[in-house]
Amino acid sequence: MKEFFGKYNGQDIYKFTLKNGQLEVDIITLGGTITDIRFPDKNGQTQSLIAGYKDVEGYLSCDDYRGAILGRVANRIENAKFILNGVEYNLTKNEGENAHHGGKEGFNKKVWEPVDFGNDYLTLFFASPDGDQGFPGRLETIVKYTLNADNSLRIDFNATSDKDTIINLSIHPYFSLNGRGENTDGIILYVDSDKITLNDQNNIPHGEFTDIKNTLYDFRLPKEINGDLSGDKVLYERGFYDNNFVLNGEGLSKAVEMQSKKTGISLQVITDQKGVQIYSGNPIGIAIETQNFPNSVNCKEYPSPILKANDSYNTTTIFAFNNKKD
Ligand code: BGC
Repeated sequence: MKEFFGKYNGQDIYKFTLKNGQLEVDIITLGGTITDIRFPDKNGQTQSLIAGYKDVEGYLSCDDYRGAILGRVANRIENAKFILNGVEYNLTKNEGENAHHGGKEGFNKKVWEPVDFGNDYLTLFFASPDGDQGFPGRLETIVKYTLNADNSLRIDFNATSDKDTIINLSIHPYFSLNGRGENTDGIILYVDSDKITLNDQNNIPHGEFTDIKNTLYDFRLPKEINGDLSGDKVLYERGFYDNNFVLNGEGLSKAVEMQSKKTGISLQVITDQKGVQIYSGNPIGIAIETQNFPNSVNCKEYPSPILKANDSYNTTTIFAFNNKKD
């Protein structure tokens, strides 16, 4: 279903509702933003499982990237600059001296064009001009959202550029498995990771890793994400997780699982990405952002974010929901 959602910069913004099995997902053309995911809980009552706003103004007023596509480069680039093929590129700064989630006007603020849709899928397109936010090359991006009959939402990104450039696409839903508007207490988290990128005080890594085995960051044995953080000074002082976990899996594999004891709803995150940023600092929900490592363009130890001219960038993430009966 397609309906008018609002206006931005004189352009019409539409909302698409996709359905399959017990799952329903709303997506708007502003930022390719997922505005709602509805799924029944263990008692058969429909829950909204991500945080959202009711109108365009809400999405424009926020700086929390609620539900939106992150691009061209998700996460942080130190000093908003990098060198590619011997040329220095300067990006728009939107977090102190750094570029965050694509710069001042990232993919979350772009109007995407719906090119194809049906009951259970939607394809959006956006062409970012050469020099947009300082990035080289005209970058054409296609994102396809597909609802599968097993109650999963699959997101396929594809991009090509006419010049060598860098890329790291992600999407930023805040999952509230206890139900929209509820807190995130009692949420159990599993992450298939035994190291994180080592961040400085601005949340920027410089090529190093930290072994997290048997620390508070170790979620290989599932535990409550909002549990007692007093065992780690940095975590305790900050009060939440905001880290890039290095994933152990190869290819399309399970990276994260989360479950609400309250609703019985669980989420599996399956991805071919090498990392996942997990951010629990916003009470509206827990952001699970599959992506390459932060600042990777400036860290030769990390997987390269370079996309060569006319090559194809492809990445897939699946959010699969389940509701356990007691
Ligand atoms: C970042 C957080 C940031 C949040 C909202 C997350 O991806 O890791 O540091 O506060 O996005 O911008």
